[in-house]
Amino acid sequence: MTIGKIPAGEAVPVELGDRSYKIEIGRGLLKQVGTLAEHFAPGGRCAIVTDANVNAAQGEKLRAGLDAAQIEHATIEVPAGEKSKSTDMLDQVVDQLLAARLERSDLVLAFGGGVVGDLAGFAAAVTRRGMRFIQIPTSLLAQVDSSVGGKTGINSRHGKNLIGAFHQPVHVLIDLDVLTTLPNREFRAGYAEVVKYGLIKFPDFFKWLEQNHNAVFAHEEALAEAIAKSCEAKAEIVKNDETEKGERALLNLGHTFGHALEGFTSYDSDRLIHGEGVAIGMVLAHEFSNRLNLCSIDDVARMKAHLQTVGLPTTISDIPGDLPNADTLMDFIAQDKKVVRGSLTFILTNGIGKAYIANEIPPCEVNAFLKDRLSK
Ligand code: GLY
Repeated sequence: MTIGKIPAGEAVPVELGDRSYKIEIGRGLLKQVGTLAEHFAPGGRCAIVTDANVNAAQGEKLRAGLDAAQIEHATIEVPAGEKSKSTDMLDQVVDQLLAARLERSDLVLAFGGGVVGDLAGFAAAVTRRGMRFIQIPTSLLAQVDSSVGGKTGINSRHGKNLIGAFHQPVHVLIDLDVLTTLPNREFRAGYAEVVKYGLIKFPDFFKWLEQNHNAVFAHEEALAEAIAKSCEAKAEIVKNDETEKGERALLNLGHTFGHALEGFTSYDSDRLIHGEGVAIGMVLAHEFSNRLNLCSIDDVARMKAHLQTVGLPTTISDIPGDLPNADTLMDFIAQDKKVVRGSLTFILTNGIGKAYIANEIPPCEVNAFLKDRLSK
């Protein structure tokens, strides 16, 4: 199997008719941002939406790229962390886009991790009834998942990502060099989303990750391959099902449990960050599938072992602090977007690389499973 080998100078296409775009992956790409902006908005202006950490570490590099092409730009900085995916912050970003007098034909540059991408993308979707934006993801998680496919949005007090829109970027620029300043914990959390593609429907990729994870974590060539393979996988799924009427829901493997855990910890990043919630959630999804006689215990052990090998949390008790009870988690799960007329839609699996969408899972089954897990 060829794992994510994109020839130099080419990019992964996301084929969506007149909303198609490319995912460019390489080193030192931030320098080219001016040329890119000029291509998409000749003579136009840009607003960089970023967070305080990314701005401090990488902001000057991006601005230098825009200055080199004499592109006028404003920077809108939000606090780092999941709490910025709020209605208040959305209001502030939109207000600053309008205060900077950006026109509909100008560009928003979403420069940061998943939080910034989701927030800036949603701000672009609603400002002036829809501005174009470029995703410039700076975390592994955003590079392999959230920057691709057009899901944008913010959290509500009722749950995660409950306010949002599908709004595709016009381009995704993935500069591998920005990952060198990413904290290890963030890198590891992003790796959970890489593993997810193998677990969903690319078992050879999962095997490749088992063999190559050291090289991926050492930022060797394998990292570019893993990102490219993840983007190819995501682009294929999004092309088949842009607005999640079917197959795209597979990308939610582990997310229903993961979002509930994030909700329980009040999105406190000291306790749990998104990719860690997904890692625990994916293990729970495999264990739940095993309980329903769908997935072998060997496959559960194998996927859990890989996540543990790279240092990801794999059980609810790995989360520091007090533990939730099953009913609390069920309240969060009941608010998840995957509830249809009281029944739950879960991503279950027949084994590694064999995930599927299971409709009509009775909530009492999930509750009994969680009670059992939490008593161990
Ligand atoms: N992150 C899941 C999706 O884009 O559908």
